[in-house]
Amino acid sequence: MCGIIGYIGYDNATPLLIEGLKKLEYRGYDSAGVAVHTGNSLEVAKAKGKLYALSEKLQKIPQLVGNLGIAHTRWATHGEPSEQNSHPILSMSGRFAVVHNGIIENYISIKEELLKKGIKFLSDTDTEVVAQLLDIYYDGDILSAVIKVINKIEGSYALGITCAERPDELIALKKASPLIVGVGEGENFIASDATAIVHRTKDIIRLEDEEVAIVKADSIKIYNKNKKEISKEIVHIDWDVAAAEKSGHEHFMIKEIMEQPKAIVNTIRPRIKDGKIVFEQDGFNLSLDDLKNINKICILACGSAYHVGCVAKYIFEKTLRTPVEVEVASEFRYMKPIVDGNTLVVAISQSGETADTLAAIKEAKDLGARVLSIVNVVGSSIATCSDNVIYTWAGPEIAVATTKAYSTQLCVIYMLANYMAEKLSRINSDLYSSYVDNLLNLPSKVEEVLKNQESIKALAKNFYDCKNVFFIGRNTDYSVSLEGSLKLKEISYIHSEAYPAGELKHGTISLIEKGTLVVALATNDALFDKMISNIKEVKARGATVLLLTTEKHRAEAESVSDYCIYIPKISDMMMPSLAVVPLQLFAYYIAYLKGCDIDKPRNLAKSVTVE
Ligand code: F6R
Repeated sequence: MCGIIGYIGYDNATPLLIEGLKKLEYRGYDSAGVAVHTGNSLEVAKAKGKLYALSEKLQKIPQLVGNLGIAHTRWATHGEPSEQNSHPILSMSGRFAVVHNGIIENYISIKEELLKKGIKFLSDTDTEVVAQLLDIYYDGDILSAVIKVINKIEGSYALGITCAERPDELIALKKASPLIVGVGEGENFIASDATAIVHRTKDIIRLEDEEVAIVKADSIKIYNKNKKEISKEIVHIDWDVAAAEKSGHEHFMIKEIMEQPKAIVNTIRPRIKDGKIVFEQDGFNLSLDDLKNINKICILACGSAYHVGCVAKYIFEKTLRTPVEVEVASEFRYMKPIVDGNTLVVAISQSGETADTLAAIKEAKDLGARVLSIVNVVGSSIATCSDNVIYTWAGPEIAVATTKAYSTQLCVIYMLANYMAEKLSRINSDLYSSYVDNLLNLPSKVEEVLKNQESIKALAKNFYDCKNVFFIGRNTDYSVSLEGSLKLKEISYIHSEAYPAGELKHGTISLIEKGTLVVALATNDALFDKMISNIKEVKARGATVLLLTTEKHRAEAESVSDYCIYIPKISDMMMPSLAVVPLQLFAYYIAYLKGCDIDKPRNLAKSVTVE
């Protein structure tokens, strides 16, 4: 995600800020910028792309020198990656410069209000409303202005602020997005994580939600929302910088697995307003007539994104009763596809750059289809060439094996299916409301599953020397099996296959022998008994069975299988989000025990830009 650093002290801020941004590069970004108070005014430099582009630019701006500044690496969410959208964002008068991590969920309504007052906006970002509000609220009392902003904005934020009229202070505040104050001698810092400043100071203060820090070179004052000054503990941190980049985790993959509840919140929360699913922030322009005209949905994707499509088929068909085809994008072009102006093509891609998916989209568009893409990387090629885009807002995914992007893609599918069903009056209001409640509960349920991390690690010890593994399931459990199997094989190099549970006996069961591991998924109550029969079939041929099910079935699960993993219950539609997490952890710990290069498995690339 984006990175923030701010400095006030005795040194020239500019090189220090660039140094700090370099330490935050691991978080992923697509543009960067700095604002420095020169003593007279705020000077800003920004550049799209990597930090060297910003550094090159800075060489041509020698006047960008001062003892106070803020800087940012931006990973685009609202507004494409561009110089204009990169931070620091200035207010219309140029009086305030703001850097921001997070999402201001109600920025559209605030922006509309400010536009009516004649305020001009220069960027497409949600952040700009903060800069403009500060301009309006500020009358010489900075704390009051900041608190008014807190009372106005909703969502998550870590904010660093400088004011042209206040050359000796830096302002910081946060809500649901981390921000720390670094305590130095004759100098102080703010940062989104300690990595950016740990080479300069290891003494930090962690800000809590809605606290405001007013930071000068020789003092730090922290206030609560009632403007009351509060005392905070200074914590001495003592870890190495490399570990910090992964927030203490050994690999990006496990970090990203653990980040899933937060990523899901970011995907879902801004899109639920007053009990309704809305795609307001996505500029969604499918009218009711457009929706009525859709007689087929065609999903195009590759790899794990294709597996999301496989889950989506069950969900769309059940909720909308519209036929759905899911196609591996690399095959689509060569099959004389049957799509036309009444087909909604849903393309799914984390990177937004997968060449096969991109080519398939172009083919579908040539045939007259309308393309809605579900993408993580803002401004990517797939996003740009689609008619509509829903961003997953999962944050940058660095490990090659996808986890949090997969999970957030699933969430968009749940929302889209219910959104369309509601618009088309194909769902009753009680059921719709219960799905919305389930969506809001999903992050805490995923959190609950993650608490089983240690027991899954212990389970993995029994299986890391396996040669072949079979994953079986029915309905959406089968689709999740596909993903569990891919996760395992791609990072641990253990051969694995996923099968619909009822299909194994039509051939593949001949491969089961004594000790072959079969991972059985049975999270759908209506299909549990059928799954038990399939488990008995493989057990009779000597398989060792690891069963993933819900607590409700504990007694029977224990009687038929060798090992069990239990997950909480949520609506059947959303069970894939809970079922996939133990499978990600299982794959991770098996690969870990085998000593594999987890974040960069052999032969694989994060973004596959060749057909
Ligand atoms: C597997 C994985 C890949 C991608 C696939 C599509 O863990 O990450 O299978 O899902 O290469 O990539 P995107 O989603 O970027 O189009």
